[in-house]
Amino acid sequence: MTQAIPPDVVALEDYQRLATAILPAPALAYVDGAGADGLTAQANLAAWQGLRLQSRLLCDMRGAHTALQLLGLDLPHPFLLAPVAFHGLAHAEAEHATALGAAATGSLMVVSTQSGLPLEEIAARAQGPFWFQLYIQPERADTLSLVRRAEAAGYRALVVTVDAPVNGIRNMETRAGFTLPKGLRAINLDGLHPPRIRAEPGRAATFLGLLDQAPRWEDIGWLKSQTRLPLLLKGIMSAHDAGLAVEAGADGLIVSNHGGRTLDTLPATAEALPAVVREVAGRIPVLCDGGIRRGTDALKALALGAAAVLVGRPQVHALAVGGAAGVAHMLTILRAELEVAMALTGRRRLGEIDASVLWPADSGR
Ligand code: FNR
Ligand code: LAC
Repeated sequence: MTQAIPPDVVALEDYQRLATAILPAPALAYVDGAGADGLTAQANLAAWQGLRLQSRLLCDMRGAHTALQLLGLDLPHPFLLAPVAFHGLAHAEAEHATALGAAATGSLMVVSTQSGLPLEEIAARAQGPFWFQLYIQPERADTLSLVRRAEAAGYRALVVTVDAPVNGIRNMETRAGFTLPKGLRAINLDGLHPPRIRAEPGRAATFLGLLDQAPRWEDIGWLKSQTRLPLLLKGIMSAHDAGLAVEAGADGLIVSNHGGRTLDTLPATAEALPAVVREVAGRIPVLCDGGIRRGTDALKALALGAAAVLVGRPQVHALAVGGAAGVAHMLTILRAELEVAMALTGRRRLGEIDASVLWPADSGR
C-alpha cells in the first residue's frame, strides 16, 4: 500500500497517461485496445461526455451520502471494479493489489474467471466484498466446479458474462504482437476442458466447434437452479435480451459492450441503457459499464436508471502506476467527483438522481 502516487495524478486520465509510459506496448494494446476499429470503445466515452447536466442551487444537502444497497450488500459508493483479466500484466502483486485497493475504499471487486491468481487466494487476502465473474465452460461439470469454488471462497454473487462467446476482432492487440507473458495464465481454468475445435486450414474456430459449446439461454436457467448466489448477466445491450434475462431468473443485469472489445459498432452503453431500464421496470437492478471515467459519468448513468457503475481499464492504469494505493486512490477520486456532482445538482442520495439531473434536451423528456 506504500507505493507513492505522483502529486500530479488528480484524475483518471492522469493514471492512463502515466500507465502508457509504464506498460509495455503490447500489454497496453491489450488493455486499452478494443474490437476492430475501436468505434464502440470511443463511443462509450463520447456518449457520457455528450450528455449535459442541469444544476440545482441552494438545496438542502444536509446528511448527503453516496451509499447504496445492492443485492444484499451495503456499499459506501456505487463504483465497482469490473472484471478484468490478468492484472499481472500491470503489477507484480496482480489481483492481490487490486483487491487490497478495493477493500481499502469499501469497493466491490468483480474478480474475472481469467484472473492470473486463484480465485480463492484473491478472496482470502483482502476484505472484500467480491463477486465472481463466470465464463460458462464447455462442460457443465467444469462450470459447476467454478461455481462451487466461488461459493466456498465467500463470493457474494455470480456475474455471468454473456457477450463474449468468441473474442472480438482484436486487431489492435494482434498488430502489437500481444501474448501473455511467461507464468501468466487463466489459472482458475487449470484442469478444465477447453472447447473442442475442428481444425480446418484457412478457417477460424468460431463455426468449427467453438459456438457448438457456447452458452445458450437454457444454460442460464440451469445455472440459476444450481446456486443460491444472486446471478447477474453482463453484456446486455437490448430490451429484447433484458426481457429474456429477467425471464431466465437473473437477479441483476449489467448493460455493457465489454468496453467495446467484442462487437465493434455496437452503440455506447449510455445509448443502450434507457431501453433496458424501461424493459426491466425496476424488477431487478441494472448496472452499467463502459467509458466511466468521471464522477459526472456515474451521475449520468444513475440518471438514466443504473443502480451502480463499473470501471474497467482505469483499474489497470491505476494498478500499473500505484499498485494497491493507486487503485484505492482512483476509486477515491471517482467517489469525490460524484459527491461534487451530487452537490451541484442538488441530490442528497443516489435515489434522488433521476432524469431531471440531465439537461432537458438530453434526458429524453
Ligand atoms: C475486460 N473485460 C472483461 N469482462 C469480463 O466479463 N471478463 C473478463 O475477463 C474481462 N477482461 C477484460 C480485460 C481487459 C484488459 C479489459 C479492458 C476489459 C470487460 C470489463 O469487464 C468491462 O466491461 C469494460 O472494461 C468496461 O469498459 P471500460 O471501463 O474499460 O471503458
Ligand atoms: C477480454 C476478455 C478476457 O476482454 O474478456 O480481454
